[in-house]
Amino acid sequence: MDLFEHQAKELFAEYGVPVPTGKVAHTPEEARAIAAELFAAGSSKVVVKAQVKTGGRGKAGGVKLADSADEAQALAGQILGMDIKGHTVHKVLVEEGSAIAQEYYFSFLLDRANRTFLSICSVEGGVEIEEVPHDRLAMVQLSPLDGVDRVRAREIAEQGRLPEEALDGAAEIIERLWAVFTDEDASLVEVNPMILTAGGEVKALDGKVTLDDNAAFRQEHDKYEDKSAADPLEAAAKAKDLNYVKLDGSVGIIGNGAGLVMSTLDVVAYAGEEFGGQKPANFLDIGGGASAEVMANGLEIVLSDGDVKSVFVNVFGGITACDAVANGIVSAYKLLAERGEAVNRPLVVRLDGNNADLGRKILSDAALDGVQQVDTMDDAAKRAAELAAGA
Ligand SMILES: Nc1ncnc2c1ncn2[C@@H]1O[C@H](COP(=O)(O)OP(=O)(O)OP(=O)(O)O)[C@@H](O)[C@H]1O
Ligand SMILES: [Mg+2]
Repeated sequence: MDLFEHQAKELFAEYGVPVPTGKVAHTPEEARAIAAELFAAGSSKVVVKAQVKTGGRGKAGGVKLADSADEAQALAGQILGMDIKGHTVHKVLVEEGSAIAQEYYFSFLLDRANRTFLSICSVEGGVEIEEVPHDRLAMVQLSPLDGVDRVRAREIAEQGRLPEEALDGAAEIIERLWAVFTDEDASLVEVNPMILTAGGEVKALDGKVTLDDNAAFRQEHDKYEDKSAADPLEAAAKAKDLNYVKLDGSVGIIGNGAGLVMSTLDVVAYAGEEFGGQKPANFLDIGGGASAEVMANGLEIVLSDGDVKSVFVNVFGGITACDAVANGIVSAYKLLAERGEAVNRPLVVRLDGNNADLGRKILSDAALDGVQQVDTMDDAAKRAAELAAGA
């Protein structure tokens, strides 16, 4: 999960990393009130910053300086509702303006290729790090066992060629950011820019944090979830522990195993070209040991998408054999009928692998309404696309 800048800064502040004072506004009036507070507290300028989970906000006109509360309100009016790379701005961060002497770049990230952690530090910040020449930045590999103490932090800042007057402040921030990175199970903590102020202080002026969702069970990260952005179907699927992603086509997809489901999406999109461009409506991996209940939950989610005109169940029996899946489908039909959600759209089922024959027999014997079996993945995809087009 990616955090908004204001969330990243709230997290930084909890760990003692200095950040500008500021608050989030959802309306121009709120922005005005926050700006007025900041000016009253002694700020000479305030900054209004679009809160969207994408980079390049400044370039897109989503970061603006204001000299008065009136101006902050007007700027917030322009920025709220703005579209930045497909992300609509629903809130702005209004914070005190800093007197910037220099801008640096700093980040901790996962170095997947080398199976370790990496720190990137450069005296050139505030610009896209990809544009900084390699000899102007330090890429420092870190041992997860040794971690980053103050001495190591200072070395990183030195290697990034930060000037003497910024080293102590930067080392303190870097050490604390390491605590953020490890204690919060983040896979990225980026500060661009980290600044040196005219007064000689080092501060985090921007913040980008990606939290590792696999560690959610041992963290309290729910509070950061952007409920407004969550798709209602995805939220319902998540509540049922289903691995579901909403897409915008018409063929509902249910499969077992992420790889099989991914290739099912491709095959359906390809087959759908022949039928007026039918596309997959979702990704849904019901996993290895799919019980009748999981199948029922999966079907219920897929069918509650009004755009779905047909459903393709693509299963390759492995540890969970096809007869178990077939029984799962039969029970799911009963379960859904009992819930008053009887399946009302055609279902194309392809069973292959372990006990495929038995599975197919169970399904034919059950003679469920609207269920058709097709032997191969390609033909089944074609049939599902055809049914979606005909509906
Ligand atoms: N509180 C502030 N005071 C003064 N200047 C600021 C402040 N916040 C941002 N700026 C200026 O605006 C520039 C861009 O800000 P910021 O890094 O937060 O956004 P961005 O880099 O455009 O967005 P993104 O990180 O999404 O690409 C900074 O490099 C800095 O020069
Ligand atoms: Mg930035």
